[in-house]
Amino acid sequence: MHRVTMLEGDGIGVEICASLRKVFRAAEVNIQWDIYQTGEKHFEKHGELISDDCFNSLEKNKVGIKGPMTTPIGTGFRSANVFLRKKYDLFANVRPVKSLGKIDSKFENIDITIFRENTEDLYQGIEEMEDENTAKSIKIITRKGSERIAKEAFEFAKKNNIEKVTVVTKANIMKFTDGLFLEVAREVAKNYPGIKLEEVLVDNMAMQLVMYPERYKLILTENLYGDILSDLCAGLVGGLGLIPGANIGKDIAIFEPVHGSAPDIAGKNIANPTALILSGCLMLEYLGEIEAATRIKNAVDKTLSDKNNFTRDLGGNKSTEEFTDAIISNL
Ligand code: NAI
Ligand code: MG
Repeated sequence: MHRVTMLEGDGIGVEICASLRKVFRAAEVNIQWDIYQTGEKHFEKHGELISDDCFNSLEKNKVGIKGPMTTPIGTGFRSANVFLRKKYDLFANVRPVKSLGKIDSKFENIDITIFRENTEDLYQGIEEMEDENTAKSIKIITRKGSERIAKEAFEFAKKNNIEKVTVVTKANIMKFTDGLFLEVAREVAKNYPGIKLEEVLVDNMAMQLVMYPERYKLILTENLYGDILSDLCAGLVGGLGLIPGANIGKDIAIFEPVHGSAPDIAGKNIANPTALILSGCLMLEYLGEIEAATRIKNAVDKTLSDKNNFTRDLGGNKSTEEFTDAIISNL
């Protein structure tokens, strides 16, 4: 029996978390959920986005799954998502982008895994107004931070027989910060003689991915570029409703979809729960429950192979609940 902390999050978070639990229950997965309301609703009542009880639960269980949490644009509060990643030093944000079922997208057979450094870069939030007309932000890249994500990416490549790691930076312009990230990637690559290191600048990478995504299997990059390229890659296979993610640290891991709280569709029972359910499958793999993960992934793929099951984001008209039940019937 595994105990897992669930952070329900904002917007569509609650709906997709319910869908995930329903699928996992039907699949008879051996998990007990410790469920916490987090985000805006919790903030309104308690003045904090995440309760101490929830933090304690995460620290005890070591494994969490979360729905998205809203971060209002502009000044005010900082992202609770970024905070969690920093608090627990969840340095590796791993995002597998794969073609699924019979979804209409421009490409087939996409299989790209993004390894995004998750604790440094401009997301450290070291920002200030120098005066009323000048804002500044400091970008931090460390050798340690770069090395551990590069190693993680190369180890993944080795395990999965991927012949090439594509490191993405803007080292031509950001000589020191991106220069260091690239230099460390080159050093780490030397320990993996069978795996090629390909170096691409981020602007070119955006174009390459839109034109020739099948050329890429594993992208190693910094925090900001990884954030942007993940959404771009999601667009290659049918959208944000499909892409799962893992935030992995030394002893704690939190799984969550790439997408946000989707306030435009929240509370309408139309969100696509696939990204969260597949995040749950990454979690099961992390917990060693490979068979259950495969069974649920296959059911999701089968469900997405029938256009009649599609939710609105995929061009269909099924509700979150109907889609969830279709997955269950395919288990
Ligand atoms: P978003 O990812 O929430 O939505 C972008 C578009 O994709 C919207 O049209 C939305 O309806 C659609 N979409 C996203 N997930 C979907 C799903 N599962 N099914 C169907 N359609 C889906 O991005 P947006 O609007 O930029 O951000 C909304 C809020 O979420 C912001 O406050 C942002 O800061 C936060 N956010 C939180 C994240 C997290 O908790 N890790 C990650 C990204 C954003
Ligand atoms: Mg993002």
